[in-house]
Formats: sequence, C-alpha cells, structure tokens
Amino acid sequence: MIKKITDGIHWTGKTDWEIRTFHGEEYSTHRGSSYNSYIVEDEKTVLIDTVWKPFGKEFVHQLRKGGYLEKIDFVIANHAEIDHSGALPELMREIPDVPVYCTKNGVKSLTGHYHQDWNFIPVKTGDRLNLGKNEIIFIEAPMLHWPDSMFSYLSGSNILFSNDAFGQHYATEHLFNDLVDQAELFQEAVKYYANILTPFSPLVLKKIDELIGLGVPVDMICPSHGVIWRKNPMQIVEQYQKWADNYAENQITLLYDTMWNGTSRLAEAIAEGIRQRRPDITVKLFNLSHSDKNDVITEVFRSKGILVGSPTINRGILTAVAGMMEEIRGLQFKNKSAAAFGTYGWSGESVHRIEDLLKNAGFTVVQEGIKVTWNPDENALSQGRDFGRRFAEAL
Ligand code: FEO
Repeated sequence: MIKKITDGIHWTGKTDWEIRTFHGEEYSTHRGSSYNSYIVEDEKTVLIDTVWKPFGKEFVHQLRKGGYLEKIDFVIANHAEIDHSGALPELMREIPDVPVYCTKNGVKSLTGHYHQDWNFIPVKTGDRLNLGKNEIIFIEAPMLHWPDSMFSYLSGSNILFSNDAFGQHYATEHLFNDLVDQAELFQEAVKYYANILTPFSPLVLKKIDELIGLGVPVDMICPSHGVIWRKNPMQIVEQYQKWADNYAENQITLLYDTMWNGTSRLAEAIAEGIRQRRPDITVKLFNLSHSDKNDVITEVFRSKGILVGSPTINRGILTAVAGMMEEIRGLQFKNKSAAAFGTYGWSGESVHRIEDLLKNAGFTVVQEGIKVTWNPDENALSQGRDFGRRFAEAL
C-alpha cells in the first residue's frame, strides 16, 4: 500500500506483520517490522531504497499500480543489505537504464549480492542530486549499519532519509511516531540500538555531530524500518546521543542457566542480597535457556552491572551462557561492571571461564566470583546474599 507522507513524498514500502526473526534467526521481531521505501516527486522522480527480496514482486506491482514505475528517474540505494536492496533485481529488470546512486562500498556490496551491471553512480558526502526545485544531499554513514550505508537529505521538505539509523523493528498501520504507542515504540527503538548499533556507538556520536554541524533543518526523519519521526524528530537523535555514550540505567541484570536449579537458587540469593543493600536498584533475572536473547541483550545494555552464572559441565559452561557471552563480546559494551557465579560437583571451572569471557568482552570484573558445591544449602545461600550485597556496594 502506498501512503502519502507530505506533498510529493510517498511511502512505498512493505509492512511485515508476520516476521518473527530477522537476520536469519539472529534478531527476534516480536512486533514484526517494515521495509520502508520512499518516492520523492519533483521535476524528477526518485525512489529511495526498496524492500526485502520476498516482497520484490509485490513492490514492483505496487509501484506500477500507483503510476510511479515509469516515472522513476533515479534510484537511491542508501544501504545494500538485502532487507532494503532485495527488490532491486525485480525493479531493475523493469527500468534497467535508470541510474542507481549509492556509495562506492555500496557498488561493491550490491554487485557482490546481485552480480548485475546496473548503472551505478557512486556518491560521497556532500554530493548533490538535483531534482528540480529541491535536491538530495548525500551523507556517507559507514557502519551505520554496514560500510556502504549512507543518509540522503532532501532540501525543501527538510527530510533525512536515514536508512537503518533511528529505525525500529515495529510493524504498525501508522506511518508516524506521534500516532503509535510510545512505550512500544521506544522499547523497539532501544532493542534495535542495543542489538545492532552498540558496537558502532563512537561512530554514531561522530555522525550526529557531523549532522548537527551541517546546520540544516530536519523536519522529519524517515528511517528504513518502523515509523517516521515527524513529531519532534530530533528526540530520537538526542536519545541516540545518550545511548551511544556508555549508556546505563540504575539496573543490575543476572543471566544464568541451571541444570538442577542450584545455580538458579544461587542467582535468587544474590539478587536478594543486592536488594537488601541497594533497594533503589532495579534487579532482573533471566534464565538464558528460555529467554529471548535479544530481549536479554537489551537488558544488559540498560544495566550498569551484570552477574553471569552457570554450573560447571565438562569443565566449562552451559551452551546458553556460552552463546550469550559470544553475543555480549561482539557488541563491545563499555563501562559496565560484572561478576560470575556458579555451582559445581567436582571440578568447578565455570566461574573462572565466565570471568575470562567477561574480561575479554570488556567488562570490569569487580569481585572474585562465587562458586558453591552441589545444590546450595542455607550456608551457601547466605554466602550468595553476601556476594550480592558486595556487588551492589561496588557499583
Ligand atoms: Fe535494515 Fe542493515 O539493514
């Protein structure tokens, strides 16, 4: 369905209500997603981004039905990832000579994915595309989200087409931020930042400074996923500045897996100790074997400290904990404290293993981990509470 954004600008994307995992199985999308594509009509007509490949035929049919397909003078590919470029083969079969504007890295990525010799026009920051009355200014945004990513700024309407940045995996019938449930919107926005953009936080801060430095008015931000920021669009930019700057709330999160509930009982004792010493701190517990990993990552992002626990198995740790620690390592969280805990029967390597993984992931391990044998008795649980109190004091 094509939807009007403002005079001469339409949304031509796809709202995907059904998708429940994105990037293969890497990202849970409890609220679906959308692949936002935009048509800008001036003396020339430009199509900005497309949709994910499975919706390619539907996308082209929609453009044709809306009378846009034959009018397209330029295509802009802000980002080559398949969720935005996937309909290009279908589209370019219809309009093979239309120039495709993207970054130099975009040419590499698009060619790498589709092996087509389209009419690429590589652009860099500051290059302009004249549409008639208004123009598009290109702003490279490497690593937000891939090396090829860029923003396109439309003069006149003062719209920033930001692609992945400022997006949310959020299907909604509404186009604009002011029309949706704000709690849902920000839950999806923070999850998106935490799981996708955290490693690139220094680049986020630099890019926002560059954007603000341009001194151009921004009346709307049109990302490639989720809603358009129409009401107070700079609110999400300001929020990104906070999230990119070693973000932490007054929260401690415990992540663990357990076999016979020994480690889970120890986790609860530690949590009790934290609450005793610091009732102002929000404490959350997640059994990793049956928690959504992306929701857990979001909670780690919001935490100033985490405690990670596993029983010892085969001189190591349970796979749910190992998998989570690999996720955490890759995201390069900064300025967060941590400690390890676990139970064991005879060899007891899990706590040291977790401590190594935490240090390797950039966490400050503020105290030596606690390990107790078999299923904790009252004495061990008391040690757990004490461990929790000391962790709370250390933050
Ligand atoms: Fe939404 Fe990096 O693609």
